Amino acid sequence: MSLDTLGGWERSHDCGSLRMEHLGQTVVLMGWVQRRRDHGGLIFIDLRDRGGLTQVVFDPQRNAESHERAHDLRSEHVIAVTGVVRVRPEGMTNPNLDTGEVEVVVDEFRLLNTSLTPPFLPEDSTDASESLRLRYRYLDLRRPVLFRNLRLRHRSAQAIRQYLNQAGFLEVETPFLTRSTPEGARDYLVPSRVNPGKFYALPQSPQLFKQLLMISGFDRYYQIVRCFRDEDLRADRQPEFTQVDIEMAFIHEDQILRLTEGLIKELFAQALGEELSIPFPRLSYSEAMARYGTDKPDIRFGLELADVTPVFADSNFQVFARIVKTGGVVKALNLKGQAGMARSELDRMQGKQNLANYYDVQTGVQGVAWIKVLESSWQGPVAKNLSDGEKELLSRMTGLESGDLILFGAGESRVVDATLDALRRHFGRQLGLMDGSRYRFLWITHFPLLEYDPEAKRHVAVHHPFTAPVPEDLSLLATQPERVRSRAYDLVLNGNEIGGGSIRIHQQEIQEGVFRALGIGPEEAREKFGFMLEALQYGAPPHGGIALGFDRLVMLLCGASSIRDVIAFPKTQKATCLLTQAPAEVTVQQLLELSIRPDVPKRPS
Ligand code: AMO
Repeated sequence: MSLDTLGGWERSHDCGSLRMEHLGQTVVLMGWVQRRRDHGGLIFIDLRDRGGLTQVVFDPQRNAESHERAHDLRSEHVIAVTGVVRVRPEGMTNPNLDTGEVEVVVDEFRLLNTSLTPPFLPEDSTDASESLRLRYRYLDLRRPVLFRNLRLRHRSAQAIRQYLNQAGFLEVETPFLTRSTPEGARDYLVPSRVNPGKFYALPQSPQLFKQLLMISGFDRYYQIVRCFRDEDLRADRQPEFTQVDIEMAFIHEDQILRLTEGLIKELFAQALGEELSIPFPRLSYSEAMARYGTDKPDIRFGLELADVTPVFADSNFQVFARIVKTGGVVKALNLKGQAGMARSELDRMQGKQNLANYYDVQTGVQGVAWIKVLESSWQGPVAKNLSDGEKELLSRMTGLESGDLILFGAGESRVVDATLDALRRHFGRQLGLMDGSRYRFLWITHFPLLEYDPEAKRHVAVHHPFTAPVPEDLSLLATQPERVRSRAYDLVLNGNEIGGGSIRIHQQEIQEGVFRALGIGPEEAREKFGFMLEALQYGAPPHGGIALGFDRLVMLLCGASSIRDVIAFPKTQKATCLLTQAPAEVTVQQLLELSIRPDVPKRPS
């Protein structure tokens, strides 16, 4: 098939724009052949570009040569057509298509390129596997749904920039080739050729640079910026992802929270036409953990956890009594009116594998105990061992009534919380408990400053080591560091953590105290963050900020279920790019140039 050139042709419209008002006009459209149908001597083609689809008709009466050549057109061939817009015949209109009332009858067309038979058709509903789609991502991106997602991403970035520009923020770029930053994941390292044996780290966030900009007096900084973290990937995590990174000087928490609320409100109004009401509710970390077992609760439904440890402290139900004696907790979820739940479903809540498969409980617990109350009869293995007094206490603590089903988690509080959180999310969805609101935002405040890491056998920063402690708690830093609350906050939307930030430490003595509590000696602190500690001594103003996970935000705006659907060229769960085959082997020569020994055996992944 011989190809034509564009010649002097210029597009008059995109394939989504023709309407009744264009009847009789001569137009030029260019795009991809979505589908070809031969009907009663006519050839119909759905021509597609990013604007949409237009039906074009090749009629032998009108131009016999064009009609003849159109027989050879196949899916994804690229053509330019010129013709006249006319109304579709009676009964042939397509109400599902914006251009569905009209068609273009072709006078002439040019074949601009052919295509191999595509491995899948670029249509919204496809049964192609995700790996096939990622392998041919440029075809996948022809699917209108992905184009719409990326267009919404673009518009969101515009709305964010506009809002922050108007609020006096400056967009400043910070280095990608830098030192390790303290966000707690593994770094991606880049060897330096000119400094043999030395490595840059790609930034896990611009945390230290944005603080330095505050010390420089920039006052209000933002950046829509790529961050790099070598961590285990999930549907909402990528090794490189984008943050809306913000920092402000001379402010307290409320001002950052208010600014962020205004930003999110503007974003939702512009991107979706959705009117959010602000301010968003706030919950302290400890209250969130007590009520939901997680620091990112989905508050579109209630189904709160009840701590029923006292019921079992002296009970005859030995399994729980033993757990309580050794410092464990027992918590409960009351599934109202679910006493009739099938036994098979309750059985499925036993065994690690079942719990992981059916309820997304990843904590490794062996099982979930239950009690159901049917017409005042208490059933289930736990119930048999409870005294009347204990039953009464349990009813009071959980609001238990006849007809209800109670699920119990018992053990170390961290495990119990995570187990019941997963069950809460599962049943919230499955039992249709959502309150119907589309977007429920929530601030979580007062995170603990430090937590004990049993693997590292020392305290680690919950947020990062530059987060300021709550001043009233400072005196506990040396004695009970785990009780010190921080001035950190997270923003949660429908159960997703979409942002986090804090007021920072701007005084060197407090910074040193926190390093001490973290077991980071002066030597190590100087070696890792010396430049930062030094900068704090040159008139650092009080400052703080936040970073929003831009991919996650856009995912939720689009109603997508994975951030891969809002990133043009994402990586797989194994951090590979199926399109370019990155990461890839490099030559021995390249390694030697970098002073890296090529013969080190590979670690199993
Ligand atoms: P944090 O580590 O909480 O804070 O990150 C901020 C937000 O970024 C998003 N996020 C991710 N999104 C996709 N893939 C990932 N791997 C990933 N990791 C994090 C989340 C998260 O809430 N420097 C601090 C911010 C600050 O203190 O100002 C920081 O990076 O939505």
